[in-house]
Amino acid sequence: MALVEIHDLHKSFGSNHVLRGIDFAVEEGEVVCVIGPSGSGKSTLLRCVNLLEVPEKGKVLVSGEDITDPDCHLDAARARIGMVFQQFNLFPHLSVLANCTVAQTTVLRRNASAAGEIARANLDRVGLNDKVNAYPMQLSGGQQQRVAIARALSMDPALMLFDEPTSALDPELVGDVLTVMRKLALDGMTMLVVTHEMAFAREVADRVVFMDGGVIVEQGPPAEVIGNPQQERTRTFLRRVLDPTHVEPT
Ligand SMILES: Nc1ncnc2c1ncn2[C@@H]1O[C@H](COP(=O)(O)OP(=O)(O)OP(=O)(O)O)[C@@H](O)[C@H]1O
Ligand SMILES: [Mg+2]
Repeated sequence: MALVEIHDLHKSFGSNHVLRGIDFAVEEGEVVCVIGPSGSGKSTLLRCVNLLEVPEKGKVLVSGEDITDPDCHLDAARARIGMVFQQFNLFPHLSVLANCTVAQTTVLRRNASAAGEIARANLDRVGLNDKVNAYPMQLSGGQQQRVAIARALSMDPALMLFDEPTSALDPELVGDVLTVMRKLALDGMTMLVVTHEMAFAREVADRVVFMDGGVIVEQGPPAEVIGNPQQERTRTFLRRVLDPTHVEPT
């Protein structure tokens, strides 16, 4: 059974039909990178996977449970899905440690000492064990993003969603975050990652999904989709991201 299954997913905002029938699955332990032009629906797709957006048609199954079913226990389903956003969304008034314990104690009802231990282990995993008492504004963007990853991991997610986790970072901070993500992938975490980092997708993804205009245009192993794309839309997109100075002939 796939960990995530998406069947004929549609989502509109007013008259803007953003997702136009998405079908795909993520197997346990698989790393899937979603690429595509701005506005193609990548974030909306990710947000439908933990029901931050409610699709108007189609199904999303996580571990076999239909989270689009109104009877689904949404908080329990969401607790199994970690999400890391472009803007780190840390709680500014809480220390790094408290950022990583608050949902553990409130949602998972762990006691403070167990939650603290788990948070410290995950902060160690992202290379920030020396920052447990710092506050988010005292950290660099890359460090804040790694706290956000440790916070998500502290909930023992079955699946991690990343929405352009490095695109708000200064270039010299991108590497540290990608290193943490690479390690997570090697540890066997199931990951669905929207990214513009083609080198990362090539190296780490088991599968790359190219979206355009609210549909999946092409998907497959990175060597095929990035290395030898079959669709013209994919080729055009890749030319643009791989060589932003390239000018299309008119
Ligand atoms: N909450 C919302 N309300 C109205 N329209 C929205 C909302 N969220 C997204 N959209 C629209 O849906 C379309 C797809 O947006 P989405 O954010 O999914 O694209 P994206 O592929 O993630 O783009 P980017 O690469 O710029 O992040 C866009 O036209 C956007 O304006
Ligand atoms: Mg987006």
